Amino acid sequence: MTGLSYDQIGRSYAATRRADSRLETAIWQALGSARSVINVGAGTGSYEPQDRAVTAVEPSAVMIAQRPAGAAPVLQAAAEQLPFADDSFDAAMSVLSDRHRGLTELRRVARNRVVLFNFNPGDAGLFWLTREYLPGFTELIPERYRSTDAWERELRAIFGDLTLVPVPVPHDCTDGFYGAFWQRPEAYLDQAVRDGISVFAQIPAAQVKSATNALRADLTRGAWHHRHTGLLKRTELHLGYYVAVAELE
Ligand SMILES: C[S@@+](CC[C@H](N)C(=O)[O-])C[C@H]1O[C@@H](n2cnc3c(N)ncnc32)[C@H](O)[C@@H]1O
Repeated sequence: MTGLSYDQIGRSYAATRRADSRLETAIWQALGSARSVINVGAGTGSYEPQDRAVTAVEPSAVMIAQRPAGAAPVLQAAAEQLPFADDSFDAAMSVLSDRHRGLTELRRVARNRVVLFNFNPGDAGLFWLTREYLPGFTELIPERYRSTDAWERELRAIFGDLTLVPVPVPHDCTDGFYGAFWQRPEAYLDQAVRDGISVFAQIPAAQVKSATNALRADLTRGAWHHRHTGLLKRTELHLGYYVAVAELE
């Protein structure tokens, strides 16, 4: 969905984007017994398991520079052309990275399984922010991916058999991605939070401004809380994020 480079939009990524332990557990479980793992679109190193041999691949120098000391070794490259031989790793993982590009490469370099954590674009309407304030989000999604099952069909066409496990977003999610603040609406008014979410860089600035103005007004008047009282009691919410696990033959 993003045509923007993280060299442009990723400068403060590490400030608001830290792995969430609940999501981490779901991703690590999906890796099963894999000992060697390639992490593609690795960014600042979130969700890389420390008890396995991880090789990170990331195209953006700005993101690489934010990897903490002691993070897995990283190679500057893109998912579409991984500089590794076939079957080089037990598993390939990719987290919140481009959901359509490089999938055949992940399958090629992995021996046993591919693990993806991402958002199903066909589920965009599940989130109040998109529905009520930022319909421009839906416009970013190419038409062919707007039906609920399009992403799954694409994955099955590439990987064959596949398990898609819905991963609800915790109410206090520590990784500030688009859906993370579903119970903390004020967060979307914060420029620093929006700077860590690529969606906001892709939607025309005027639309983002009108969305944040409308949300601010609704929060001030109590209208948001009135409409979403039920959300405030929940500890997690399904917003269309999934772990996809493909076992390779
Ligand atoms: C939202 S960040 C996710 C980073 C990390 N996986 C995480 O969970 O924090 C998306 C990452 O995908 C990378 N990316 C974008 N296009 C890519 C491509 N064609 N191949 C590999 N990575 C790409 C970006 O540079 C960025 O670091």
